[in-house]
Amino acid sequence: MAKEKLKTLLLVEDDPGLQSQLRWSFDSYEVVVAENRSAAIAQLRRFEPHVVTLDLGLPPDPANASEGLATLEEILRLAPYTKVIVVTGNDDRENALRAIAAGAYDYYQKPVDAQILGLIVARAFHLYELEEENRRLAQSIRESPLAGIVAASPGMLKLCRTIEKIAPTDVTTLILGESGTGKELVARALHTLSRRAQRPFVAINCAAIPENLLESELFGYEKGAFTGAGKQTKGKIEYAEGGTFFLDEVGDLPLSLQAKILRFLQERVIERVGGRVEIPVDVRVICATHRELPALIAGGRFREDLYYRISEITLDVPPLRDRAGDVLVLARALLARYCQEHKRGELRGFSAEALAAMEHHQWPGNVRELENKIKRAVIMAEGNLINVEDLDLSQHDAPAAEAFNLRQVRDDAERKAVQRVLAQANNNISQAAEILGITRPTLYDLMNRLGLK
Ligand SMILES: Nc1ncnc2c1ncn2[C@@H]1O[C@H](COP(=O)(O)OP(=O)(O)OP(=O)(O)O)[C@@H](O)[C@H]1O
Ligand SMILES: [Mg+2]
Repeated sequence: MAKEKLKTLLLVEDDPGLQSQLRWSFDSYEVVVAENRSAAIAQLRRFEPHVVTLDLGLPPDPANASEGLATLEEILRLAPYTKVIVVTGNDDRENALRAIAAGAYDYYQKPVDAQILGLIVARAFHLYELEEENRRLAQSIRESPLAGIVAASPGMLKLCRTIEKIAPTDVTTLILGESGTGKELVARALHTLSRRAQRPFVAINCAAIPENLLESELFGYEKGAFTGAGKQTKGKIEYAEGGTFFLDEVGDLPLSLQAKILRFLQERVIERVGGRVEIPVDVRVICATHRELPALIAGGRFREDLYYRISEITLDVPPLRDRAGDVLVLARALLARYCQEHKRGELRGFSAEALAAMEHHQWPGNVRELENKIKRAVIMAEGNLINVEDLDLSQHDAPAAEAFNLRQVRDDAERKAVQRVLAQANNNISQAAEILGITRPTLYDLMNRLGLK
């Protein structure tokens, strides 16, 4: 029978007598010890213990708790979920409380009664496991994006959760983000998830319509209001009645119209051009821009009062280069879409080189650029894999992030490799396992461990 893996407990204690006494009384755990701060951090990185007992009086000055408190701080900075039980001298309540305030789980005063300390340690392990289970559940909820939004990165998944929260409300929302990041998609998701979903979603792009036509587009006009106004015509805002009105590129709204939009947002009534009656409208307003509104305000080109009115809630859509993992899932989703459109069912996926190139590319044009590259590649590809030339990308090297320990570096590398191969194999597990040179069950285990679905 396989021996059950013991839980790891780290004892940070400089007194050799106490060290061996504790080691002996914790024989149901895998005990690792450290006698000073640097050894403690090394053991933490190596064994990733869930529970640590930490003597606050550590060398070089065991009579003083400062080295112990510094060790506590470093442990929690590196591994914030660790349960640290501080052990203090018998009348050092003050430092014990300081340690609790700094994030220690519990404290214990010497002399050590192994039985009582044993109970505290057991409870700490139990709590750690409950919290870990909780984090895992919360993670799986966070991992599902919204219909229509393809995403896997923590930033986008968080944005999806925010969208779910604010969609049912009527708060005026401002969506910010670089060009092509998906601002309009977010606006539509807010509408689709709201009680207004059955009513119209009307969008107007302030940058695309000449200034002299924009007012009548927005507010409509009465017959005879100007030359060519042959009949009474409703504006876009009125068309959105009961639904959502999306004012896109709001940063490009001319100053003259900013005052009128502000009035509409305050009073919730409009007046058609050439009209004299105020018409009440019930719409939820969403605005978007890729511009820096504070800079426009500073330059006198955007009204500050309008800014505060439209930004009751602000959503930031991150650029694609900052969304770890999104490029590959988006690439796969887009490939499926364009293969169907262009009847190229024989295209199975991307070559390993093409996947690496997409991961390294900086995507200044964000998702729209990715769409264009894949659309092009689907047309250009000759074999049944899209290769790096079909994508027409320039290559860059990504800088490496600082590593916590070797296991994490390995996990990151494995996650990347598995994601890439799955994408390459069109999510076919047997094929992916074969490419990776492992068995199917091993691949399943690996995916489970790395949190890949
Ligand atoms: N997460 C995503 N999942 C699927 N498709 C996406 C995603 N994000 C963006 N797209 C697609 O990328 C294209 C650009 O998105 P969208 O028009 O919403 O961007 P935008 O931020 O409004 O850009 P611009 O500032 O240029 O108007 C659209 O075709 C959209 O469907
Ligand atoms: Mg847009």
